[in-house]
Amino acid sequence: MGLLEKTMEKLENLEKLVKELYQEGNPNREEWASWLADNHVFVVADYATELAKKYGANEELARVAALLHDIADVKMKRDNPTHEEESLRMARELMQEAGYSEDDVKLVVDDAIRYHSCHGDERPASTEGKILATADSLAHLKTDFYIYATWAFGYDRTLEETKDWVLKKIDRDLNNKILFEDVREEVMPDYNMIKELFSR
Ligand SMILES: [Fe+2]
Repeated sequence: MGLLEKTMEKLENLEKLVKELYQEGNPNREEWASWLADNHVFVVADYATELAKKYGANEELARVAALLHDIADVKMKRDNPTHEEESLRMARELMQEAGYSEDDVKLVVDDAIRYHSCHGDERPASTEGKILATADSLAHLKTDFYIYATWAFGYDRTLEETKDWVLKKIDRDLNNKILFEDVREEVMPDYNMIKELFSR
């Protein structure tokens, strides 16, 4: 087997495994996890692949980072205080099992995934990490993500709380998570549209 086939096989196995984990339907997870798999995780992965091509980053590792970026969603809710740590632990384990090198695991888990939420001053250092944060944000701003999220979580928030949540989150998407200037410019119409709608 050639090197390229081997690489493809590792990635294909990991994609299959991620799909299976989301399909397991663990009762402790958030109800929207299966929606997230098809409509968010794999959307982020496709944006990450596209951006990696564009910026000359490692396409495979950018895609792996996207597939695993919130992998603890398959078994627990976001408000679980161990969610972030568990995502890192599972991502590391899944990459090791798939046969990725320690250097690859370090880049994907300890940089890209660890810092992809871009809270405060935290930013990923690697290009693949910047791509993950940017791809995650694009998958929020350029799809029906906010429509789905406000519908799915509408029951335990007031309308004002919902609007406030969206307006804060789109600001972090645009200002913290998009780490390429040309992408930020490109996504401005989407950001403005959502902002206008939720400011009414
Ligand atoms: Fe995400």
